[in-house]
Amino acid sequence: MKAPKENGFRCVVTGGCGFIGSNFISLFLAEYPLAKVLNLDSMTYAAHPQTARHLDSLAPERYQHVRGDIADPQLGELLSRFKPDAVVNFAAETHVDKSILDPSAFVQTNVAGVQNLLTLARKQGNVRFLQVSTDEVYGSLNPDDPTFTESSPLTPSSPYAAAKASGDLFALAAHHTFGQDVVITRCTNNFGPYQYPEKLIPLVIANALEDKPIPIYGDGQQVRDWLHVVDHCRAIALVLATGKSGEVYNVSASEEHANLNIVRGILERVGKPESLIRYVKDRPGHDRRYGLSAAKIRHTLGWSPKLSFEEGLDQTVEWYLQNSGWWRSLRDEAYAAYYQANYAPKVQEQEKPL
Ligand SMILES: NC(=O)c1ccc[n+]([C@@H]2O[C@H](COP(=O)([O-])OP(=O)(O)OC[C@H]3O[C@@H](n4cnc5c(N)ncnc54)[C@H](O)[C@@H]3O)[C@@H](O)[C@H]2O)c1
Repeated sequence: MKAPKENGFRCVVTGGCGFIGSNFISLFLAEYPLAKVLNLDSMTYAAHPQTARHLDSLAPERYQHVRGDIADPQLGELLSRFKPDAVVNFAAETHVDKSILDPSAFVQTNVAGVQNLLTLARKQGNVRFLQVSTDEVYGSLNPDDPTFTESSPLTPSSPYAAAKASGDLFALAAHHTFGQDVVITRCTNNFGPYQYPEKLIPLVIANALEDKPIPIYGDGQQVRDWLHVVDHCRAIALVLATGKSGEVYNVSASEEHANLNIVRGILERVGKPESLIRYVKDRPGHDRRYGLSAAKIRHTLGWSPKLSFEEGLDQTVEWYLQNSGWWRSLRDEAYAAYYQANYAPKVQEQEKPL
């Protein structure tokens, strides 16, 4: 594969109007001033038009957003015109609670979509495919278990994690069967700017700032391993440029924290009382602990996180304080109806020559 730093490197990023994809595009355009990015995003509820507009303003001559679904077989024509050197697949349904209520969209995007995108990328010839995956494919750990490595078996618990594991298996099968240039990253829980306020950290910040109750599943002692989104994006860019084809790379800062402690840390930062906490019935099948070893990416590619957990949380709380218009609009019902009417997913190409 052509190196991302080379003139005219062309990268398709899917799901780029979501949380991690938008942070990745910002970082990638800044890090590689000669690269071009086509962001393919179907604009589900998880994508914010304000995020799309922010990306449009970064480097208009090297970036475009096309609304489209990764499961659409007609995408081959778009790829043939763009001629990518790489595809980085962030597009996914990502909310575990939603996957428990109805997993069908998760199968459609996280499994069928990945399979479709792999097939279409392969038809383009020498294209590197990076599948952005999650530690949730490994399932849950007991308190004293060692952390998961890349060779741990896949034992996903939730429908979301099962669909992501399936997408990973299709990606690895494409490498084994067709020799397709595939790399996979599996990262721990992310936090940072532009995260939809359905996920723990932005939900707690938003509810606290609005003096609304903060729901905590079960006893709140579920442990998650946390990484700031920019450190995750740096790992993805590194694996894209230097990862070995057919390999999986875990990404983690080994920052394991119980959910309740995260909530307390946020309440302290925004000066709100713990009386806002409401313990609610636990999520069915709720994984108790996630923990990942990132020894492989640290030792073979030289990645390490730059932001400590505490610094990252300070910056994140500050971002939500400074950008209340961004998250408040997502919680507003009138806005949700407007969004459904105007931005509901439809395949509609808005290409410009790059
Ligand atoms: N958030 C985390 O903590 C975390 C951790 C590890 C891995 N991941 C993985 O990273 C990726 C991005 O996660 P996120 O938190 O940014 O998600 P997100 O929900 O914020 O964004 C997903 C984006 O994908 C788009 N999308 C959904 N279905 C699509 C489709 N069929 N075609 C095109 N676009 C589609 C949405 O419009 C949205 O912009 C996912 O694959 C997720 O599994 C997330």
